Amino acid sequence: MTRESEIIERLAAEQTLAAEELSILLTTDDKTAEERLRSLAAETAQRIYGNEIYIRGLIEFTNYCKNDCYYCGIRRSNARAQRYRLTKEQILACCKEGYGLGFRTFVLQGGEDLYFTDARICELVAAIKEQYPDCAVTLSVGEKTRESYQAYFDAGADRYLLRHETADEAHYGKLHPAEMSFANRVRCLKDLKEIGYQTGCGFMVGSPHQTVETLYADLKFIREFQPEMVGIGPFIPQQDTPFGDRAAGTLRMTLRLLSIIRLLHPHVLLPATTALGTIHPKGREMGILAGANVVMPNLSPVNVREKYKLYDNKICTGDEAAECRFCMQRRMESIGYRVVTDRGDYKED
Ligand code: SAM
Ligand code: FES
Repeated sequence: MTRESEIIERLAAEQTLAAEELSILLTTDDKTAEERLRSLAAETAQRIYGNEIYIRGLIEFTNYCKNDCYYCGIRRSNARAQRYRLTKEQILACCKEGYGLGFRTFVLQGGEDLYFTDARICELVAAIKEQYPDCAVTLSVGEKTRESYQAYFDAGADRYLLRHETADEAHYGKLHPAEMSFANRVRCLKDLKEIGYQTGCGFMVGSPHQTVETLYADLKFIREFQPEMVGIGPFIPQQDTPFGDRAAGTLRMTLRLLSIIRLLHPHVLLPATTALGTIHPKGREMGILAGANVVMPNLSPVNVREKYKLYDNKICTGDEAAECRFCMQRRMESIGYRVVTDRGDYKED
């Protein structure tokens, strides 16, 4: 047995990985090992979720943001971003269309937009839950107080996505201005979990200043936090940000990390993200074949798609929701999976 295969078999059997072993898995050129890692991760996802892929309807409802994260195209300092926010009616129209297309989870994602007060967010969540009681609502609106998170939960929100971005404090400081802190990010994630949300953390692969050590800290954080969801995708530069001239994260690293996360935390809901589809035309299919089990087609109105520009060359900006939905179905079927009309909750042991 090679050192690589020894590491992979133990990772799958015991859900353990040492820092030095992560380094080996991320850098090896051994094709057999790479394929074994991928296939064990895909088998693990299939054992728990079968060949069913959960779809989430993503509604990017505002690109106003009070934060200034260095990597993000909708950061407040980006004067070139054309700002928009959807009305409650527009958001409900997205849900109506999405429901008809078979979505049973709506993800409301946006910048930290002060227009959307807690009262407005609660009103939105309550309206969606009232009209679609069989659907899950996922929020992804950034860092809030515990009271705010509790209010959204009481209004009916089921899940919350808040990527931790990096679990290394010094690295966190290199990606964000001083007014943001890793400690507050973690506080938010802990509050969300305690309140009872299905909670998602995650990070970008290949973000500036990321190292094997910071990635190891990310995996350790995931092991300890035990999130129901983990969102990872490649970092992709956006030309109007301070990191506009940096290199994008790679397909190879992203796929390996998807597989490692699946093996470390077998039940996790793991999306093959739009960013992965942006760096390679078959990125999302490859993500599923590496152990992911969720895709998030875009439900936002076509006239705002181009404006929610977190990074350059984002795909699907000209496609209607229905096109994206059926395109995704075809893509999944082409690799032997099927998208299901289901809330797609986390499956416990
Ligand atoms: N404001 C919310 C938040 O901060 O969680 C949700 C929106 S935020 C734009 C969603 C995610 O996009 C971030 O967590 C980040 O990981 C990702 N993102 C931002 N800029 C990116 C880039 N240049 N490349 C890839 N992903 C990026
Ligand atoms: Fe949007 Fe293919 S997923 S067009």
